[in-house]
Amino acid sequence: MREQLAKIREDALALLSAVKSAAELEELRVRYLGKKGELTAVLKQMGGLPAAERPVMGQLANQVRADIEAKLAEARREVEARALERRLEAEAVDVTVPGKAVDIGHRHPMYVALDEMKEIFIGMGFMVVDGPEIELGELNFDRLNAEPGHPSRDWSDTFYFDKDERVMLRSQTSPMQVRAMDSLPLPIRMVAPGRVYRKDEVDATHSPMFHQVEGMVIDKGVTMADLKGTLNTVVEQLYGKGTRTRFRPHHFPFTEPSCEMDVQCHKCGGVGCPTCKGEGWIELLGAGMIHPHVLEMAGIDPDVWSGWAFGFGLERTAMRRFKIDDLRLIFENDVRFLEQF
Ligand code: DAH
Repeated sequence: MREQLAKIREDALALLSAVKSAAELEELRVRYLGKKGELTAVLKQMGGLPAAERPVMGQLANQVRADIEAKLAEARREVEARALERRLEAEAVDVTVPGKAVDIGHRHPMYVALDEMKEIFIGMGFMVVDGPEIELGELNFDRLNAEPGHPSRDWSDTFYFDKDERVMLRSQTSPMQVRAMDSLPLPIRMVAPGRVYRKDEVDATHSPMFHQVEGMVIDKGVTMADLKGTLNTVVEQLYGKGTRTRFRPHHFPFTEPSCEMDVQCHKCGGVGCPTCKGEGWIELLGAGMIHPHVLEMAGIDPDVWSGWAFGFGLERTAMRRFKIDDLRLIFENDVRFLEQF
């Protein structure tokens, strides 16, 4: 019996040392320590032993059971530790695997040009203001001296919301002049970029939606010389020092006198080429001294205050800035085009 017990102990410890899974572990526990297990089977033979040997064998059997239980506990800890290790391994994030690249966009070229322009004006003490694209006809036209019957009010040019022509998509950013006069304290120096809408077919130079940048100064003693000096400085900063401009007489209902400003063609230097359609000059903006009646309608005394204003097309400015030859490219959002900037 002594040998039997020794053999059980030896076999059990050896098998438990090599155990790999919780299931195997349980199988061994039942096999050695269970009610029908090997140890129990041996103990059942105790009755056949001489009385003197029984306590000795009993003690030995208890020792064997204790050894096997200790080994079983140790093996259980190992199995559990291995299981945890495997789980951690399986769930680990491999930081060396190359990531999925995310395409990061960038500013649209037109907004790059706009930001440059804003910087220039802010540097000269202008504030940047924003206003609604759905505008009152009163502000877009009446308050700007465009009386009923003015061609720009025509239904073929303008998007009205109602037949009374009260609400419309603004056709110019100039109503922002009126909004600024109505809401800001004098003196005023402001620029107002934004979208405008006209019933134009899309082609290389037209779109029913485009952007303008309006600008206005109202102060005491402001003259046309300030207008020219300011706009020349802006043009030089945008297109480089020494860029020449010219001012041509023009008509706008809300300025008197009115003018258009051209910039000397960057391609040919004024000689005339396809870019400037042989003119040597490219039209950049409309401007003028604010009409006294426009000031009056805003409650500003034209005998005390004077002002000038301008408005130019942002797409054109950006096209010239980045040498883009078709307006449609600006709005199509084709990344192959946009990625070039
Ligand atoms: N609003 C005019 C247009 O869309 C441009 C313009 C001309 C704006 C003269 C002005 C200005 O502020 O003074 O053609």
